[in-house]
Amino acid sequence: MSGPDPASAPPRPKFHPLPEWVGPATRAVHAGAREDANAGSVVFPIYQTSTFHFPAEFSEARDPRDVQLYTRLGNPTQEVAAEVLASLEGAEAARVFGSGMGAIAATVLTFVSPGDEVVALSDLYGGTLDLLGELLPRFGVRVRFLSAAEAARPESAIGPSTKLVYFESPTNPLLRIHDIRRWTDAAHAVGALAVFDNTFATPIGQHPLARGVDLVLHSASKSLGGHSDVIAGAVAGSADLLERVDRTRSILGSPLDPFAAFLLTRGMKTLPLRVAKQSENARKLVGALAPHPAVAEVHYPGREGPAAESVASAQMRFRGGVVGLELAGGRAAVRRFLGNLRLVHVAASLGGVESLASVPRETSHRGLSDADCLARGIRPGLVRLSLGIEDAEDLIRDVSEALAGA
Ligand SMILES: Cc1ncc(COP(=O)(O)O)c(C=O)c1O
Repeated sequence: MSGPDPASAPPRPKFHPLPEWVGPATRAVHAGAREDANAGSVVFPIYQTSTFHFPAEFSEARDPRDVQLYTRLGNPTQEVAAEVLASLEGAEAARVFGSGMGAIAATVLTFVSPGDEVVALSDLYGGTLDLLGELLPRFGVRVRFLSAAEAARPESAIGPSTKLVYFESPTNPLLRIHDIRRWTDAAHAVGALAVFDNTFATPIGQHPLARGVDLVLHSASKSLGGHSDVIAGAVAGSADLLERVDRTRSILGSPLDPFAAFLLTRGMKTLPLRVAKQSENARKLVGALAPHPAVAEVHYPGREGPAAESVASAQMRFRGGVVGLELAGGRAAVRRFLGNLRLVHVAASLGGVESLASVPRETSHRGLSDADCLARGIRPGLVRLSLGIEDAEDLIRDVSEALAGA
């Protein structure tokens, strides 16, 4: 036999638990670190396996959760990714999923039953609108979508029959701001669960759990992964609530593949750097384009008016890299603008290192009718830009030149 004798090998250094006082950049790099029993590697390995040896001594007397059984039910590489997210969100626990929609569906379906009412914003991600508006009513769950006026006064819209309140801020795609604390208080006043999608702001931009939200959801395919190379989802919150979600996740079968979990953990290490740079790029682009003759309106968190600005500055540390541009020339101008871009890729999604442009009417919200889109303020001239980490001057030049020819 070749190789070092394990008995004479130097002892491996122990990982220490992360002290509570560390900041978000330190958490992003060090959270989830743990001893690797096999090789002592600094980077936790990918357990690319569907199943695990079942201990012969396992008996009914032991808690089945102590045993690593099958990757649909759990896997160490998934757990590391979940631990990093929990640490960043300031949550007791988190779980990762095979997509954002997988996380949203498993979470919502865990907490509603026939006869319950869900109250939701009407300007949510399109897939979430489909789940709430199309699927839930088939199983006897009533869903009430709030108009913009109702959403400004959630305490009047959320009632005693409301079981779950679902919202986002900034919203997709118009980047409207909602007061997280106010919505959460209104939900809790009637004993409803407050569920919040934090995909746009990320835990670096804001901490919904610190404002009372019960469960925070993510499309980790966006900023958490950050490199447009993984489809993933996550939920963070209390250990008790997440144990209930576990059951639904294993029934629905939406776990995260171990290799994707590894990419997600790797991506999250640079999340604070990327969010800061993307927010800076967005701020500079908004400054350069407002006003601009080809742009009728610029959507960015806080720009709706003084009330939105005051809520955004209270609850957000970073405003994020997503900007909405309403082109004055409508749909025809959008087509020309997209065709003129040289650096910004025309593609759905957001939060990656590369800048992307997409038309919400044709991507995230293509499931809605024209009338539904207009009712939600999604007009044909709306383009959504997700700014990456490139040089701000280059992005401003690319967008300005594309607008000049639109
Ligand atoms: C805000 C938001 N939530 C959820 C999702 C769904 O995530 P996924 O595409 O990872 O299923 C998206 C996707 O665009 C999104 O933008």
